[in-house]
Amino acid sequence: MRGTGLEEAISNRRTQRDFQDRSVSVSKVHRLLWAAQGVTDESGKRTAPSAHALHPLNLRFTAGNIDGLEPGTYSVAGDAKTLEPIIRRDLRRELQAAALEDQPWIGEAAGIITVCADFAAASRAFVEQPPYGLRGLRYVYIEAGAVAQNLQLMASADGLGSVIVAGFKDEATADILELEAPITPVMHLCFGWPLLS
Ligand SMILES: Cc1cc2nc3c(=O)[nH]c(=O)nc-3n(C[C@H](O)[C@H](O)[C@H](O)COP(=O)(O)O)c2cc1C
Repeated sequence: MRGTGLEEAISNRRTQRDFQDRSVSVSKVHRLLWAAQGVTDESGKRTAPSAHALHPLNLRFTAGNIDGLEPGTYSVAGDAKTLEPIIRRDLRRELQAAALEDQPWIGEAAGIITVCADFAAASRAFVEQPPYGLRGLRYVYIEAGAVAQNLQLMASADGLGSVIVAGFKDEATADILELEAPITPVMHLCFGWPLLS
């Protein structure tokens, strides 16, 4: 389908698991982070919707082959703009080893955005709505899905290939990324330049 930029991005969105060994610019990383959780108005609301504007998600960024960023893992501030290094070594292969089944695209991606969530805060916020304590968890997954779609559409619009990876060992992945409980990893978005077939 040809049409608006949005229609093209939706139409071209495809999971890609084969990446070139080629760097991605840090400006493209910032565009992806903005698509995921960028702040788009003065009240602090973001590119993705959030039940009661609770915003229980936050991001970690693992750089492997990023032009303008040292390999390592970075925390991403709530504005989705500021990156702070927290681990100064390339964690891609460790994250790959924490996957369920063999998923080499995790280690071969230029970068990995990990969407993390405070499930405890979400559970508490909606505890008075049935099914008590569980509704907040449901809302987190719905919100993470919106973020995932924003990410893949921005990747598609920028010519990048990407794959959502949610099949990983939760505790091992949290340990590698040095997440502090109750922050839990929900999914990775692994991206890079697609290998042309
Ligand atoms: C919730 C969710 C979890 C996924 N987890 C993985 C995963 O762990 N590894 C992987 O390679 N692909 C994963 N995928 C990607 C799907 O395999 C992919 O979307 C599917 O094959 C359809 O292809 P398409 O995205 O090109 O439409 C996941 C997708 C979703 C929505």
